[in-house]
Amino acid sequence: MQKRRIVVTSALPYANGDIHIGHLVEYLQTDFWVRFQKMRGHECVYVCADDTHGTPIMIRARKDGITPEQLIEASYARHTKDFADFEIAFDNYYTTHSPENRDFCATIFKRLEKNNAIFYKDVPQLYCPHDKMFLPDRFVRGTCPSCGAADQYGDSCEKCGATYAPADMKDARCAVCGKATPEVRNSEHIFFNLELFRNYLPAWLEKHVAPDVANKLLEWFAPDVKLLPWDISRDAPYFGFEIPDHPGKFFYVWLDAPVGYMASLLNWCLKNDKKFDRWWNNPDAELYHFIGKDIVRFHCLFWPAMLHASDFKGPDQVFVHGFLTVNGEKMSKSRGTFINARTYLEHLDPAYLRYYYACKINNTTDDVDLNLDDFALRVNSDLVGKITNLASRGAQMLHKSLDGRLGEMDAKGRALLQEFLARAETIAGHYEARRFSQVPVEVCHLADAANEYFDAAQPWKTVKTDPETTRKTLTSILNLFRILAIYLQPVLPRYAEKVAKLFGDEPYTWDSLQTTLENRAIAPYEYLAVRVLPEQVVAMVEKSRVAPPADKQAIEKPAPPLKTEIDIAAFGDIDLRVARVEKAEPVEGSDKLIRLAIDLGPLGKRTIFSGIRASYPDPSALDGSLIVIVANLKPRKMRFGLSEGMVLSAGFDHDKLRVIAPVGGGNPGDPVS
Ligand code: MSP
Ligand code: ZN
Repeated sequence: MQKRRIVVTSALPYANGDIHIGHLVEYLQTDFWVRFQKMRGHECVYVCADDTHGTPIMIRARKDGITPEQLIEASYARHTKDFADFEIAFDNYYTTHSPENRDFCATIFKRLEKNNAIFYKDVPQLYCPHDKMFLPDRFVRGTCPSCGAADQYGDSCEKCGATYAPADMKDARCAVCGKATPEVRNSEHIFFNLELFRNYLPAWLEKHVAPDVANKLLEWFAPDVKLLPWDISRDAPYFGFEIPDHPGKFFYVWLDAPVGYMASLLNWCLKNDKKFDRWWNNPDAELYHFIGKDIVRFHCLFWPAMLHASDFKGPDQVFVHGFLTVNGEKMSKSRGTFINARTYLEHLDPAYLRYYYACKINNTTDDVDLNLDDFALRVNSDLVGKITNLASRGAQMLHKSLDGRLGEMDAKGRALLQEFLARAETIAGHYEARRFSQVPVEVCHLADAANEYFDAAQPWKTVKTDPETTRKTLTSILNLFRILAIYLQPVLPRYAEKVAKLFGDEPYTWDSLQTTLENRAIAPYEYLAVRVLPEQVVAMVEKSRVAPPADKQAIEKPAPPLKTEIDIAAFGDIDLRVARVEKAEPVEGSDKLIRLAIDLGPLGKRTIFSGIRASYPDPSALDGSLIVIVANLKPRKMRFGLSEGMVLSAGFDHDKLRVIAPVGGGNPGDPVS
């Protein structure tokens, strides 16, 4: 077999957040694929890094009262620990804040400039005079000019979905300090002229991404619309790399982030005495990026154009996956399904998630659902019940009654082994094509056959009467199990390592399928996988649950103490009645009160003044509605007239009160129970 040289990347996680189970959809599938390639004997290098630059990281560090360098160092330690504990084996995990990355960015930029792919243009930009920085749209907040919702981002409204410029908001505020009104300042920005690649890119997309991804991107290439230039510079202060010969200008984080793939590979080359050009720019070496569907534009438009224009090789394929849902919904902090990698590890074995994701991930951009009930079920019934049980029953019986020595396989066992091995290329094909979900299907199918064989042979009975026949049965079973462990090794590396130890094998490669184990001792059985308990899953979700942010005032103000206790009779003295609002109108001279003309049916008509103006700026909205009033309140003389009763309303802010409506209707004058 021709030995391939393959470089593989996963997208670089941002340094301002923890790794969560959504990220793991990506890092685990990449790890499955890389481990498979290595088992097949190819030279495969898996590189990644922390994505460390940009405004959010700078601001997060400011808030925490540390430098950005301290922030990224801390998250590097957390990320690498999380990945290692999930058995994700990078050949190099680096950082975009590195000398290699700085050099590559400079080289690429100079080549882009030389090839006329760069131009300069003044752009008006919001600037916070208090924080002395230019603000990205996301760091401006104000009222949506379209629907009036308060506290929306500077580029789009989360309530009505409108998009706009921050300048359209009347009350724009800087979100960093929360106070200052940003001002518009002109600044020269540096642009990458994407339009130059209008012919190059469609041809590139056809060859290097899946058709559905390509088709989506091709929508940008309408004949009469120019491709928008890409703004690759940001003004100081910015945590990133200053652009050579452009003091005060920095590379936008999305320029230096993918260059981080090259930098991490170069760093690996330097540490391992390899030549970068044999790995990246070599037409005989393969380069693959695994990414999520949210970052396709960066990887399949800007990135290949940029590499092309700077004489670097582009990726051979960009593999795009979908997003994680949990129990069919977006991960949610309040539901406890936004689960950090570390929280998972505190409750469950990483092998379970690796196995479950393998069951669910394939080579499409469909979202991947982690159903927590199904998760426990699959792990328990398949991984533990079907697969691992073969080893635990077989090995333990062999030790207990047959001195832990394998004999020879019987004829039935040999025939089954051939059936197992006949699936090898099919399974390899699934791995190669990233149809990971097919691998457990194949393996479970084979495990079913092995369990049938075991149950038919009834070794737990024959062990007393016919030990040597039993030894043959167990030898067959353990050889069959060993094949399954080899097939699963890319998904369950630590598990497979323990299996190898049990059998005294070297770490498995695909060639290990060719050997059989006969007439030798095996090591004592150590547990491989135990059942998931539902309460472990519940505990993990509870630990992840974050209460929705309480009302700010509620946090700042302690709840007022309770008033004097009353007895039920006192409460019963309050006479609540249904009333119909005939007319509700503002009270001239008061910005708090409205005047309600109400009808109490057989009890007559009354006037009530109510302090709910802020909640009902247009009181006529209440005309005709049924409300509840305290009908036996002593009439009170007010500056604007006599108030004969009280309208019941409830709400948490003085401007968000709602009158209480009698559920089920009723007639004016009816008592309310
Ligand atoms: N820093 C950028 C990538 C730069 S690559 C040159 C970034 N970081 S990220 O931390 O937000 O995401 C890293 C990867 O994880 C991305 O490929 C992203 O699509 C993937 N995922 C993040 N959340 C995810 C889910 N909930 N589900 C599946 N994949 C997810 O983007
Ligand atoms: Zn500010």
